[in-house]
Amino acid sequence: MQPIYSTSLGEAYCADSLDFMRSLPAGSIDLVLTSPPYALHFKKEYGNADQAEYVEWFLPFAEEIKRILKLDGSFVLNVGGAWTPGAPLRSLYHYRLLLALCDRIGFNLCQEFFWYNPAKMPAPAEWVNVRRIRVKDSVEYIFWLSPTPNPKADNTQVLHEYSPDMKRLIKRGIKHTKRPSGHNIKGTFAADKGGSIPPNLIECGNNESNSYYIKASKRRGHKIHPARFPAALPQFFIKMLTTLGDTVLDPFAGSNTTGWVAESMGRRWIAIERDQQYAEDSGLRFHDAPVESANGQGTLF
Ligand SMILES: C[S@@+](CC[C@H](N)C(=O)[O-])C[C@H]1O[C@@H](n2cnc3c(N)ncnc32)[C@H](O)[C@@H]1O
Repeated sequence: MQPIYSTSLGEAYCADSLDFMRSLPAGSIDLVLTSPPYALHFKKEYGNADQAEYVEWFLPFAEEIKRILKLDGSFVLNVGGAWTPGAPLRSLYHYRLLLALCDRIGFNLCQEFFWYNPAKMPAPAEWVNVRRIRVKDSVEYIFWLSPTPNPKADNTQVLHEYSPDMKRLIKRGIKHTKRPSGHNIKGTFAADKGGSIPPNLIECGNNESNSYYIKASKRRGHKIHPARFPAALPQFFIKMLTTLGDTVLDPFAGSNTTGWVAESMGRRWIAIERDQQYAEDSGLRFHDAPVESANGQGTLF
C-alpha cells in the first residue's frame, strides 16, 4: 500500500487499521499510542461503537496491536469515560475494556494515568448544569499496557522542574527523619536528581488554535479534526517509553498528532486513519514548527 504522505521518519496511510496492522510483521513496533473513537452516547461524525458493543469491537484491534509489538514494547490507550443514556450514572465500558485487554488478550497493566483537561465543558447538561446533581467530568483515562511485565521505560526522561520548596531543601539538605506515616526520609531525599518524578496525572488543555494545521485546514474549507489530543500526551509517553529511532504507531491517527510529535523527537512513526480528508489534512501538521517549540499545546516535558 502507498502512503498518503511520508516524511523522513514516517508514513501516513489512509486505511482501515485492522486490515493494515494484519499486514505488518510480528514484533516490529516499539510503541502503539492511540485514542480510538470512544463509546460516546452523542456520536462524533467519524463513528463510535456503542457502549454495549465496544469491547467486542475493540478486541480484534488489540489482538493485532499485541502481535505487532516488540516484547519490550508498550501500548498506550487513551479513552474517555461515558454516561449511561437517560440516567445520571457512569458507564463501565472503559473498565470492561481494560479487564478484557488483560484477561482475554493477555496485556499487562503497567500503570493507569489520568489526563486532566481543565478546559472540558460541563456535561451532560441535564445532570451537571440543569439539575446540578453531578459535577464536571474533567479526566480521561490512559492505560499503559505491555505484552510483558518489563517494557522499556525511563522516568528520568519526563522529570518535572523541582518545586521552590524542594529547591530550598536541596540547597539546605535534610536530616534523617521519620514521617508520621512511618516513611523514613533519608538525607539522600534532598539530593539533586535533575527534577521531580512526575505523577500519573497529566494536566493539559486541548487548546491548539494557532497552528498551521488549523489555519490551513480552515483556508481549504475543511473541518478541523474534532477530537485531537494535545501534543503533550504523546510527548510524555514517547519520551518515557522509547528511544531515538524507535517506531511509534497510531492506528486511529485522526490529525496525526502522534506522528508529528514522534517526528520532532527523532522517532519513526506510522499513522493510519480511515477518513480520507482527515488523513490528507494531517500532512499539514508537518508545516508547523517542531513540537518542542510549539505554543498552546499544554505542558511540555
Ligand atoms: C479520537 S480520533 C483520534 C484523534 C487523534 N488522536 C488526533 O490527535 O488527531 C479517532 C480517529 O479514528 C479514526 N478511525 C475509526 N475507526 C478506524 C479504523 N478502523 N481504522 C483507522 N482509523 C479509524 C476516526 O476516523 C477518527 O479520526
